[in-house]
Amino acid sequence: MHALVQAYTQRLAENGHDNPQRTIEELLAHHLNCKPLEIYNQTTLNESIVETDLNRLLNNEPLQYILGTAHFYGIEFNCDARALIPRPETESLIELILQSDLKDQPTPRLIDVGTGTGCIALTLASHLPNAHLEAVDSSEAALALTWENAEKLDLSKRIVLHHNNLLSERPDDTYDAIISNPPYIATDHWKALAPSVKEFEPRAALDAGPEGTECYEALAPEAWRALKPNGHLFLEIGYDQSNLVQRILQRNGFHAIHLQKDLQGHDRIIHARK
Ligand SMILES: C[S@@+](CC[C@H](N)C(=O)[O-])C[C@H]1O[C@@H](n2cnc3c(N)ncnc32)[C@H](O)[C@@H]1O
Repeated sequence: MHALVQAYTQRLAENGHDNPQRTIEELLAHHLNCKPLEIYNQTTLNESIVETDLNRLLNNEPLQYILGTAHFYGIEFNCDARALIPRPETESLIELILQSDLKDQPTPRLIDVGTGTGCIALTLASHLPNAHLEAVDSSEAALALTWENAEKLDLSKRIVLHHNNLLSERPDDTYDAIISNPPYIATDHWKALAPSVKEFEPRAALDAGPEGTECYEALAPEAWRALKPNGHLFLEIGYDQSNLVQRILQRNGFHAIHLQKDLQGHDRIIHARK
């Protein structure tokens, strides 16, 4: 198996792939139904299936779409081209929410805006057993995937899904927390993204418009309306958007604004109170 891994790794490396050996180990582990480090103990492999997947990787398709799964906060989600691949940065959003007073409230009502795979809403449902979870997306295809994940994780009775534009059809003064990782990339930056992102992940999950802050502008007044007094707003932001988004939130009346950095040291999460 070592020689095969080396040969496949070499082909990916020549294509300029990041972390080629790890990618190959994960791909082979998927086909051999074992852990990545256990592949070296295996003796047989269906090389023609691996060859098909390798060609998809060489065509820049993300590994998670090929495998059909992605891991987020220790949970395996189904994942395909209907929704964004969950990112590690977004795990900081979960950390911050789980550290807040929401865990001490008897039945907090939370809504995730732009849910995609459902990684945020379903992770919160599994860690906050008393919470009522709702999730919104403007993409019906993404919501179909959210529902598949809710069923796979046995959380379908814990979540209500809405096919809406942001919070436009949600009631006033209702939620204890609104959470969102909305599209936040400016159109010109979207055009320059790596092919593995731009050609495979849904544009509607990434491209927010010419400025990149359009979703925050639209969401802030709607979140103010839909939150209960003193309710929490948690947003993921682009690495260089903290000043802009802070100003949008202040303009819409939010207070107690707090920024949290990601593991790379970039301001990544913004938390505010109504
Ligand atoms: C950056 S992705 C985040 C997906 C997921 N929450 C995550 O963190 O991996 C943004 C999501 O917002 C959805 N979206 C974009 N515009 C929207 C809108 N106006 N109303 C509701 N959802 C929207 C997209 O379809 C996409 O699923």
